[in-house]
Amino acid sequence: MLNVEGIHLYYGASHTLRNVSLNAEPGKITCVLGRNGVGKTSLLRAIMGLKDIQRGRIAWGETEVSRLAPHERARRGFALVPQGREIFPRLSVLENLKTGFAPLPRSLQTIEDEIYELFPVLKSMLGRRGGDLSGGQQQQLAIARALITRPKLLILDEPTEGIQPSIIKDIERVIRKLAERGDMAILLVEQYFDFASALADKFVVMERGEVVLAGDSGAVDEEEVRRYLTV
Ligand SMILES: Nc1ncnc2c1ncn2[C@@H]1O[C@H](COP(=O)(O)OP(=O)(O)OP(=O)(O)O)[C@@H](O)[C@H]1O
Ligand SMILES: [Mg+2]
Repeated sequence: MLNVEGIHLYYGASHTLRNVSLNAEPGKITCVLGRNGVGKTSLLRAIMGLKDIQRGRIAWGETEVSRLAPHERARRGFALVPQGREIFPRLSVLENLKTGFAPLPRSLQTIEDEIYELFPVLKSMLGRRGGDLSGGQQQQLAIARALITRPKLLILDEPTEGIQPSIIKDIERVIRKLAERGDMAILLVEQYFDFASALADKFVVMERGEVVLAGDSGAVDEEEVRRYLTV
């Protein structure tokens, strides 16, 4: 289980995360919601070790990871599907997938059939350049690349951003299936409420760097959550 306890993050003098706490359990989908610029990506970067925190603690189970380098967190099973996807446009689909091997010992550097079962479209496009895929296909590739690392914690940063509805449905099915496996904690950042509410076991709502509302999806008032998302 991921435990984020009272973290603070700064960019220079600007205090971007203020006392943020949350947890994410295996088999559950924890959904972080909030408008543009509230600090969602900064929170994910802190969890992955891509940005230092000034106060607070990030732990995986009993082990504090706050000071570990990103590659060390990756080796412990943290994987991020970044906002904007960040696939390599000049590499082929297969080469993009293989970049997911980096944190794995050689014996685990294989692409399991399950990846292609989850994303059949990728199998027919292995030789194509990443940059030639549609936005939705690139998003599927970015998720597949994260899954190749065999994550225990899968973090997705706005996976529906700029994606057409039919592919959003496919991505929703994949995330649900991964959660049902029960061995992976899923932390999903979203602004698209309907997608989030279809999947979330728990909501964490942020505003201006702070958590303003949190709770199990059955227990929080949907209208109140929506109010934090409308401009
Ligand atoms: N590298 C950086 N240097 C300075 N300020 C930054 C940096 N990255 C983000 N910020 C600022 O920190 C705040 C939070 O940004 P962040 O990207 O975490 O928000 P977000 O909730 O992910 O937004 P969005 O929904 O648009 O992706 C914003 O005010 C942003 O301008
Ligand atoms: Mg963001």
